[in-house]
Amino acid sequence: MPGFELFGDAERKEVNDVLENGVLMRYGFDGMRNGHWKSKELEAQLQYTFKTNHAQLVSSGTAAVTVALASAGVGAGDEVIMPTFTFVASFESIMAVGAIPILVDIDDTLTLDPIAVEKAITPKTKAVMVVHMCGSMGNMNALQQICSAHNILLIEDACQAIGGTYNNKPLGSIGDLGCFSFDYVKTITCGEGGAVITNNETFYLNADHFSDHGHDHIGSDRGAETHPFLGFNYRISELHAAVGLAQIKRLPEFLEIQNKNYNILREALASIPEITFRSVPEGGEESYAFLNFFLPTLEIAQSVTKSFKENGIDGCFHYFDNNWHYIRKWDHLKDLKSLFPLSTEIKTGLEYLKTKEFPQSDHYIGRNISCLIKLSWTGEEVKARASKMVEVIKGIL
Ligand SMILES: Cc1ncc(COP(=O)(O)O)c(C=O)c1O
Repeated sequence: MPGFELFGDAERKEVNDVLENGVLMRYGFDGMRNGHWKSKELEAQLQYTFKTNHAQLVSSGTAAVTVALASAGVGAGDEVIMPTFTFVASFESIMAVGAIPILVDIDDTLTLDPIAVEKAITPKTKAVMVVHMCGSMGNMNALQQICSAHNILLIEDACQAIGGTYNNKPLGSIGDLGCFSFDYVKTITCGEGGAVITNNETFYLNADHFSDHGHDHIGSDRGAETHPFLGFNYRISELHAAVGLAQIKRLPEFLEIQNKNYNILREALASIPEITFRSVPEGGEESYAFLNFFLPTLEIAQSVTKSFKENGIDGCFHYFDNNWHYIRKWDHLKDLKSLFPLSTEIKTGLEYLKTKEFPQSDHYIGRNISCLIKLSWTGEEVKARASKMVEVIKGIL
């Protein structure tokens, strides 16, 4: 992460193509657009890259997760199991469709613990949302088995693991639906954007219609389109899709750089016996967007994070103390601080969070440091960073 670091001529060319020859909107205006359909082209590239039958571009990763849930029929009163360590978009999207987020522990993969998932299943459970955090994945084998045994949907949030694979299948393509973000800090970027991928044609058609007010997209007269069901506006613009079109062609190049930089840092840190690394499920290949490691205690992780900052080692996150990614700091969710009244189902459904503790998640997140892998580092810079990190950690242990 992230693609914007290597933003250049290819991206400018695609954007200028829209400005000079196309139109800014992805639908309609057929006569004016001179055959330019950047969003459709990017969707075809997404299908090819992520080996799925269908891809629907939307305006963000948050929109992608919301559209995926709606397209699969998740709604009022349904429970969706999600991890304690993720981004706020997970519970936002679940609540946006009227469903109840059921937060469960993570394990040393830093993603859903299958045992915790199994324990959380109730007759109301409609879906499990696995979030492939920080470049690596959940135990898809175990999660798929649980979901099919209970007839529950498996939705993959692969926003932070673009390009990772599991048993040679791209992350996002394994569950019933997969979601990506192409916001400014993701491995490939549109500026803002996202996508839903699926092999299920009904879910795809639902996503296509739902993300554009329920329009059926039949014919070339938008005003004549009918609405098989209610929708919303989660559309992407042609300008954003144009940026993504240039970026997706560079994904193999970005992944190779991530892999190289990750391995230099990992090799250096592996020389410290007290350090262990996150576990990657068998058959999994990380996207190498982050390097995640565990220190022996919470206090040591806090000291190392502080010292990294003081020594100019940026992009290393201790999520235990971070407001964005871990349950511990989500008071606005626990206190249900909403600008508008929430449904009684959501209010009662979330009461458990007022008292629930997650010692197992604390055990992993408290000791974890997650280091962003940049694309723009020179070989010298990565090596210098690796030695500095080792020096700082050894000074604290
Ligand atoms: C795991 C995860 N899911 C969803 C999102 C939401 O993506 P967006 O910022 O495009 O709405 C993010 C963004 O950081 C994310 O990290």
